[in-house]
Amino acid sequence: MINITVGSFKGGVGKSTVALNFAYELSKYYKVLLVDTDPQNSLAFFLCQEFKKGFSEILFEGENSEGLVKTPFLKENPNFYFLPTGVFCIKNPILYEDGFTVDLVGKFLTNISKFNFDFVVYDTPPRISKHIETLLNVSEDFLMVLNPDPATYSSLKIFLQFIQKSGIKSEIYTIINKTEPTLISEDFTRLIVAELNKKNILGILPTDKQVSESQGKCKPIIMYNPEAPFSIFLKKAVLSYINSK
Ligand SMILES: Nc1ncnc2c1ncn2[C@@H]1O[C@H](COP(=O)(O)OP(=O)(O)O)[C@@H](O)[C@H]1O
Ligand SMILES: [Mg+2]
Repeated sequence: MINITVGSFKGGVGKSTVALNFAYELSKYYKVLLVDTDPQNSLAFFLCQEFKKGFSEILFEGENSEGLVKTPFLKENPNFYFLPTGVFCIKNPILYEDGFTVDLVGKFLTNISKFNFDFVVYDTPPRISKHIETLLNVSEDFLMVLNPDPATYSSLKIFLQFIQKSGIKSEIYTIINKTEPTLISEDFTRLIVAELNKKNILGILPTDKQVSESQGKCKPIIMYNPEAPFSIFLKKAVLSYINSK
């Protein structure tokens, strides 16, 4: 089982959108569990799902994973499973952050091992935190989502230093999202690519108004609009990822 943490230091870059669609596309080839670990529960909103119980209840209240991830989430795809963050994390924000240890996440992984997932994809809250450090410690792969803008670029170095200092061993992959045909977007895309030395850049995805329009459709955009520019580039990114394995 391969764990992929999807993360960024900035909010609004498209982390949840990428995590959802990446996991869904991957599930066409493998058995995939998408886990929302962000108390915002964005993925439950995207998928129009109630989020009474989820990952945070399994982690902190001993909730059985069986009832939560037993059945595939969408009838169209038997290999796509989804676990929302739940409400424990909203009611207990400090405990959820401070208690988010490698031990606890390790127990979660043991708990779900019986389901034989090929991949577990984690969506995460933005910023550097113990939460993200813990997830990276259990993840083979880290999928970084960046936007081609000055704020992302200036924090990229800090983030890479943090990863190096923490001794995190995850392989880093990158998706640059929300690119635009403007000089500033193209310049910052180039700068980011140079900073990362082209290493493991899986895709450069355009700003696509069909992505925001897809909210409310309760499905990954890649599923109901596979020809949208975002979908086309994301499918290619998933294939590059699979081919890198
Ligand atoms: N490539 C894109 N083109 C247009 N809108 C996008 C794109 N990627 C994400 N969005 C929109 O940006 C907003 C933030 O996306 P989200 O995935 O919630 O970001 P994050 O999880 O990083 O906070 C959402 O409204 C989403 O629909
Ligand atoms: Mg999000």
